[in-house]
Amino acid sequence: MNNCERKTLALMTSLLNNADACRGNFYDSLLENLSTILKFNFAGVYFINDDEFYRVSQRTNDDIIPLVLDKELSKKIIECENHTYETQIDDSNYGFLTISKLLIKNSLYGLILLKSKAKYSESELSSFAAFCAIASYLIKDYELNDVYKMQLKALQDAIAEKNSAYEVIEKQHKKLIELDKTKNAFLANISHELRTPLNAIIGFSQALGCKIFGELNPKQEEYIKDIQISSLHLLGMINEILDLSKIESKAMKASLMELDPGVVIQEAINILTPLSEQKSISVNFINTCKGNIISDYQKLQQILYNLLSNAIKFTPDNGKIEIRISNENKDFILEVQDNGVGIDKKYHNKIFTKFVHLNNIYVKNQSSTGLGLTITKELVKLLKGKITLESTVNKGTTFKVVLKGALI
Ligand SMILES: Nc1ncnc2c1ncn2[C@@H]1O[C@H](COP(=O)(O)OP(=O)(O)OP(=O)(O)O)[C@@H](O)[C@H]1O
Ligand SMILES: [Mg+2]
Repeated sequence: MNNCERKTLALMTSLLNNADACRGNFYDSLLENLSTILKFNFAGVYFINDDEFYRVSQRTNDDIIPLVLDKELSKKIIECENHTYETQIDDSNYGFLTISKLLIKNSLYGLILLKSKAKYSESELSSFAAFCAIASYLIKDYELNDVYKMQLKALQDAIAEKNSAYEVIEKQHKKLIELDKTKNAFLANISHELRTPLNAIIGFSQALGCKIFGELNPKQEEYIKDIQISSLHLLGMINEILDLSKIESKAMKASLMELDPGVVIQEAINILTPLSEQKSISVNFINTCKGNIISDYQKLQQILYNLLSNAIKFTPDNGKIEIRISNENKDFILEVQDNGVGIDKKYHNKIFTKFVHLNNIYVKNQSSTGLGLTITKELVKLLKGKITLESTVNKGTTFKVVLKGALI
């Protein structure tokens, strides 16, 4: 083994064992390593694209070597069967071009070109070929590594972006939950503050209306009725807001006790009498329930209040409403039937959704928040019951509430 071959072998071993030594400016250090085994006055690394070789790196500033090798030379190199190719050049720096192909599994992707004053010996040529064989793999490894790094970075960036988006969403979600809590607390508070004076208005106007404190002239009687009706509407709305905020904050609990359902329902009917009288609607109550029930007094009244106020609202003047309570074995059944506008079948589920009210003249002319049935459904659920309806447009509607096993 001559000196050049020994040096080449040492260099190749060191390159292979220590491929990272060539990182930094990879091509510069590759050509610098080459200069330790061969003398040249120019060395360049070229890649192929569309049968043309373009330079990606060079050592020395010999500008006579063009950036892109001419087509004729490129063709000769591609067609040459050997891995190395030599040619003499005829320029002012008279000399030789020695080229070795960069191949991966016989597929050509570039070359290393050397320009030297003297022709290389056989052993120098084989050292150059051996160097290029190693360099072929090192260059591809470097490039793949670079692509891999780029992909890794893109992936890391995407993950970071996703994570920060998640963080923002999570923060906003927490904020919304906090806001919702504040809103519910505020509504519960304000509803309570509004209800207290309103109950006084309703109570005193009813006392005046009953003429406990003496006779009223016709105008006074008319206005007292107006006060009662308006305050009942207002109380209904405030109760809905209060109930909804309680339901949404899961603060609503059933307080169960033994009840005579006839008494509870009659009381709720009495509260709404001014509303049905205003529209000359008859309200008939039929009680065939045999026995007391275990339920929540206020919730049951609220359920009837919501269903009856709807029946009154969506039934024309001089209409008919029938309220029935009964039992089937241990199940308690409450039905509210009207002969009003009715509800198209396609809306039967929708009407239980918050703020939904259907387009009809009654909604336009009267207060309609669209919360009553949402709350009713939640109340019925709280009492472990079910609510259903049967309705025919322009004929009327029947809402049916079944409280399973409520009878004692
Ligand atoms: N008995 C009924 N007859 C015809 N339509 C009804 C009847 N009950 C409810 N609806 C329809 O269902 C909708 C929702 O009823 P819900 O009680 O939830 O709201 P609302 O009565 O409009 O307003 P709120 O009860 O909040 O004052 C009503 O707007 C109405 O369109
Ligand atoms: Mg309603």
